Amino acid sequence: MNVAVMGYGTVGSGVVEIINRKDLGLTVKYILDLRDFPGDVNASKFTKDFNDILTGDVDIVVETMGGQHPAFEFVSQCLAAGKHVVTSNKELVAEKGLELITLAKENNVNFMFEAAVGGGIPVIRPLTFCLRANNIRSVNGILNGTTNFILTKMIKENMSFEDALKIAQDNGYAEKDPTADVEGHDACRKICILAALAFGNHVYPKNVHCEGITKIALEDVANVSGIGAIKLIGTAEKLPDGKLYILVSPAVVLSDRQLSAVSDVFNAVMIDGDATDEVLFYGKGAGSLPTASAVVADVLDCAEHSERRRPVFWGPEKPELIADYREVENKFYVRGAALDENLIDTKLNDDAYITKPITENALREKLDGEPASLIRVARL
Ligand code: HSE
Repeated sequence: MNVAVMGYGTVGSGVVEIINRKDLGLTVKYILDLRDFPGDVNASKFTKDFNDILTGDVDIVVETMGGQHPAFEFVSQCLAAGKHVVTSNKELVAEKGLELITLAKENNVNFMFEAAVGGGIPVIRPLTFCLRANNIRSVNGILNGTTNFILTKMIKENMSFEDALKIAQDNGYAEKDPTADVEGHDACRKICILAALAFGNHVYPKNVHCEGITKIALEDVANVSGIGAIKLIGTAEKLPDGKLYILVSPAVVLSDRQLSAVSDVFNAVMIDGDATDEVLFYGKGAGSLPTASAVVADVLDCAEHSERRRPVFWGPEKPELIADYREVENKFYVRGAALDENLIDTKLNDDAYITKPITENALREKLDGEPASLIRVARL
């Protein structure tokens, strides 16, 4: 089968490397990139013209360009031309996934995106196929390698935020604009994709509360160290009233929960199904070869099922089903504002404590002033 790779960055170059190093019955026919790569062993395959791929002898197109444009236009044209498409681009899937899976269905081709969530961790396929007998109750995950790497370095090595981010960038973990990592947007795109697969409706990132890790103080990390660890957690949970509690924010993960031990660039996704109970997926969430591994597996799936469409589908967004996260009861870590003793679950020290379950709106009304820090305790 002939493959074209659009975007020769961290992931795209890893895809070409894996296809070249292992006899998988795949041939890289074209590599599309506007940049020059003098001396690259794949020199004969480079093109700057998308039409070579669209009209050429290519069965499966890999999109590893990132961003929405021109990725969306290129992917749409490939699907409409009857080519299978595999992408690692979480922004594309979170923003345009519904349109693209619809287009793929209309053209009886596959649009696959295992690498878009959790890098090298198999989670999209297990959620879509292996767990389909369940009503999914919740999905919780550490979904961004860069922020988990930074938090780990801050906690274990007292390294500054900037130094840790620089290492993450040098290792190819971070997004081109690392704001997407540290402000939680990347994790938000991923929880939206998981929510669509788990609960059946598209969720657009703009409708999801999203907080990053930039306001976390070393003091907070130290305050909770006796009971757990602060992690950037993406949560999507079906509430008893049928609404979806979905958000991305730092959260205190208690020590007896497995996600509290997930460090460095590792990601983990905990899926709670009504038949299975909790199932945990763990592995490297970023980096060239781990992510390329997931892409190439999708390419092989397309190659082996080229006449058959994989049944990945969800419906349009229902924004009225998204709960107001501030009205959902939760425990909170608070520093720097007093609260009625009756509402406190655990005192950590003179300045910090964990509340009993309460909504964020009610808590803010009852606090004596603006807290220096207010972090939810993860619901898992
Ligand atoms: N920047 C992302 C991360 C890459 O750090 O997890 C993988 O999506």
